[in-house]
Amino acid sequence: MMTIIRLMTDRDIEQVSKIENETFSMPWSKDAFREFLKRKDTIYIVAEVNNEIVGYCGLWNIVQEGNINNFAVNKQYRKKHIGFEMLTKLIEIGNEQRINAYTLEVRQSNVAAIRLYHKIGFREDGIRKNFYESPREDAIIMWYR
Ligand SMILES: CC(C)(COP(=O)(O)OP(=O)(O)OC[C@H]1O[C@@H](n2cnc3c(N)ncnc32)[C@H](O)[C@@H]1OP(=O)(O)O)[C@@H](O)C(=O)NCCC(=O)NCCS
Repeated sequence: MMTIIRLMTDRDIEQVSKIENETFSMPWSKDAFREFLKRKDTIYIVAEVNNEIVGYCGLWNIVQEGNINNFAVNKQYRKKHIGFEMLTKLIEIGNEQRINAYTLEVRQSNVAAIRLYHKIGFREDGIRKNFYESPREDAIIMWYR
């Protein structure tokens, strides 16, 4: 299986949105992705297998801190290290743009994502009470410096 990791373009949004809708109870709209792609202070990448988008992640650079807003891999393609590779690449591109710290929120029950973030080097640093809806849940705040 050959995985290509590259920058996201407008043409990818249809497929990205499909994964987003399948994955999250409160998915981002296509317009939200379009808006963020347009900005100069964001980095969005996708993973592609046989011309199919199988995952994506993205960040918003706020004063040299990368806020990771989106991260998902299509269910059939999970546990193949695609998520790990994408996030590593996102951070590599961020570092080239002089981002020096990365942060994200994650549901405290999301063991898979938390384990992956630990593997990359993220550390837990605080909790946002009831940050998520449907279902209501605390967010763990994580940082990688
Ligand atoms: C989180 C997510 C993106 C991970 O993508 P993935 O490609 O399946 O992850 P990888 O295969 O790169 O996993 C890397 C490491 O993370 C950990 N991990 C990943 N999935 C796991 C699982 N289901 N259970 C336990 N650990 C897991 C493992 O340590 C794994 O390393 P290993 O395979 O060497 O043990 C994917 O599970 C997903 O899309 N989840 C739903 C959306 C989501 O939760 N997004 C994050 C919101 S904050």
